[in-house]
Amino acid sequence: MAFETIIVEVEDYVAVIRLNRPEALNALNDKLLTELATAITAAQANDKVRVLVLTGSDKAFAAGADIKMMREKSFTDVYLEDLFTPETDQITRGRKPIIAAVAGYALGGGCELAMMCDFIIAADTAKFGQPEINLGVMAGLGGTQRLTRFVGKSKAMDMNLTGRFMDAEEAERAGLVSRVVPAKDLMKETMAAAHKIAEKSMITTMAIKESVNRAYETTLHEGLLFERRVFHALFATEDQKEGMSAFLEKRTPQFRDR
Ligand code: CAA
Repeated sequence: MAFETIIVEVEDYVAVIRLNRPEALNALNDKLLTELATAITAAQANDKVRVLVLTGSDKAFAAGADIKMMREKSFTDVYLEDLFTPETDQITRGRKPIIAAVAGYALGGGCELAMMCDFIIAADTAKFGQPEINLGVMAGLGGTQRLTRFVGKSKAMDMNLTGRFMDAEEAERAGLVSRVVPAKDLMKETMAAAHKIAEKSMITTMAIKESVNRAYETTLHEGLLFERRVFHALFATEDQKEGMSAFLEKRTPQFRDR
């Protein structure tokens, strides 16, 4: 598939999707979001893909929704077209894990796009922020909701109300990113994580993604029950027999997604 604003490569069961609008620091316009949603949907359906990686450039993961695109829009326009909803629904619908590899700016919709992924690995150059308040608007892709779940109320209020940026070290301390690596190692470390996940049984990776996400949607009691039942269900798979047998026989498991 030929795209203009993203680059997609599939290698060793990992699809790497790179945002590629350098002239606008990967700002999210209609075209980019549509192409991204299409590429993610295709990768989710591709048997040769087990894990997805979403990344940008050294300077910017994405500097937010495209301000040029939004400036002239009215309430009626954005409400009737339900701005950003169809694409983000598509981006977050898939069951295979998505890792965000973030270097440079991840601001506004860029920070929110990273948070739509399953976890974030940050370069030490990464800067996260919800600066929409400076534009006379507010976050619209999860900056008041997902960010609050990641970092708690106080920091989410601070980020959204002051518009200040958070560096990678603070983002790791706050729980927004899973780890920080030197910028030059960002893709090496991310690909190593992606390949490690790709080796596992895909039934298990999907079950884990579904279960962790359930923690955000339900009570502890219901979440624990859901987890227990999914754990029980995995005993119906051949991969459970293979994984446990391989451990006891001191060999590498050969998972077959069955
Ligand atoms: N939309 C459109 N274009 C953008 C952009 C954006 N969000 N961010 C950067 N650009 C463009 C700039 O206009 C500039 O283009 P020109 O060369 O044609 O002037 C180019 O990218 C390079 O940007 P700068 O010259 O500003 O680069 P810098 O290094 O001086 O600053 C920056 C970098 C701090 C990221 C600065 O560009 C910036 O503050 N960008 C806007 C960040 C922002 O406000 N994001 C939130 C957007 S709203 C949103 O996302 C809503 C939502 O939640 C859905």
